[in-house]
Amino acid sequence: MIKQCNTKALQSTMTLNPLKIGPYKIDHQVLVAPMAGVTDRPYRQLCRAYGAAYAVSEMAASNPALWKSVKTSQRLNHKGEPAPIAVQLAGANPAMMAEAARFNADRGAQIIDINMGCPAKKVCALAAGSALMGQESLALSIVDAVLEALAHRREPVPVTVKMRTGLCTANRNVRSLALAMQSLGVSMIVVHGRTREQGFAGEAEYESIRQVKEALSIPVVANGDIDTPNKAREVLAQTGCDAVMVGRAALGKPWLFAQIAADLNGQGQLAEPSLESLREPMKAHFEDHLSFYGEASGLRSIRKHVAWFLPQWVRLSGLQQVNDLPAPIWAEDAVQHFYRIDSSAAQSDFLDRCFSQLINQDKPLKPLLTQAWPIAA
Ligand SMILES: Cc1cc2nc3c(=O)[nH]c(=O)nc-3n(C[C@H](O)[C@H](O)[C@H](O)COP(=O)(O)O)c2cc1C
Repeated sequence: MIKQCNTKALQSTMTLNPLKIGPYKIDHQVLVAPMAGVTDRPYRQLCRAYGAAYAVSEMAASNPALWKSVKTSQRLNHKGEPAPIAVQLAGANPAMMAEAARFNADRGAQIIDINMGCPAKKVCALAAGSALMGQESLALSIVDAVLEALAHRREPVPVTVKMRTGLCTANRNVRSLALAMQSLGVSMIVVHGRTREQGFAGEAEYESIRQVKEALSIPVVANGDIDTPNKAREVLAQTGCDAVMVGRAALGKPWLFAQIAADLNGQGQLAEPSLESLREPMKAHFEDHLSFYGEASGLRSIRKHVAWFLPQWVRLSGLQQVNDLPAPIWAEDAVQHFYRIDSSAAQSDFLDRCFSQLINQDKPLKPLLTQAWPIAA
């Protein structure tokens, strides 16, 4: 039976299969992947509201010189976020990483995640992120230093590591490295089923992840290309992992977390939310984003989110045509138009009109958009 995506009802009825990270019990096994530039606090809260059980904050710099930057202090802002607060650190210097771990724990981080999975040049040029997969002794020194820095706190702060399968196909060392990290005292390992060399190309493979799970006794999380409840079920069956982590597939459709969780927990297939039910939460998310970043920066950073959301809204409307345009073209034009709007009030008004246009499909609100928006001119 298909149920409507009502996350509150979902949360109250699910027989959950919890995951433990150190002392922290995570409600179920569907987690949000950290994505720099995306998983800011408003986005994490949106994902949690739509059913994700756990969200790690995007990468925080381990270099103290950067801690006073606006970007880092925004990343340290966890106001209103549900526990446990998890912060990911990236860096290649064990002492700096230890200091960063302490600094973040002092500011509310309850779990520290170490990034050994990011292939971004900016990160890897410093031999951090996934480059650490090729420098095992440095990688282990970092983990050791961070664990030591957090060892004697009143509240325990478990350390987790997010890794890739290795540097390249010829050197898939994730199993041995993860085992060594477990011996040091790491509480959970996440594995993205690609090598560093692959970047995001090709398909994720799960055999290496299965081998990690088989070898370890701490929780292991599978990540990479999980985009449907079926795929999540298959990956869990294939790897035996304790949880899945989802990144790109939920961009624009955060309810995917609830759908996967419901399916994995025997709640059946959860239907997509109605467009009407999204209107207010989307408005709230837009406002949350703007107040988090401020008008000048927020009106720019919200654009990419809208570029992910708008095609989903159009899809949910079920319309083939909008304003005499094929629906996907209308969505593309709407996104392009949104990118040109330079005030948050006008953005908000535009999004509201998009909802009206899509929802009132049977009584078209004649050129709602076209006056201010010369589509297909
Ligand atoms: C825009 C973007 C930013 C990312 N930033 C990070 C990051 O800061 N830290 C990290 O560990 N992984 C990062 N990743 C990798 C994701 O966490 C995840 O491992 C990867 O996208 C594969 O999962 P998916 O197929 O579900 O997206 C990023 C991915 C994307 C697309």
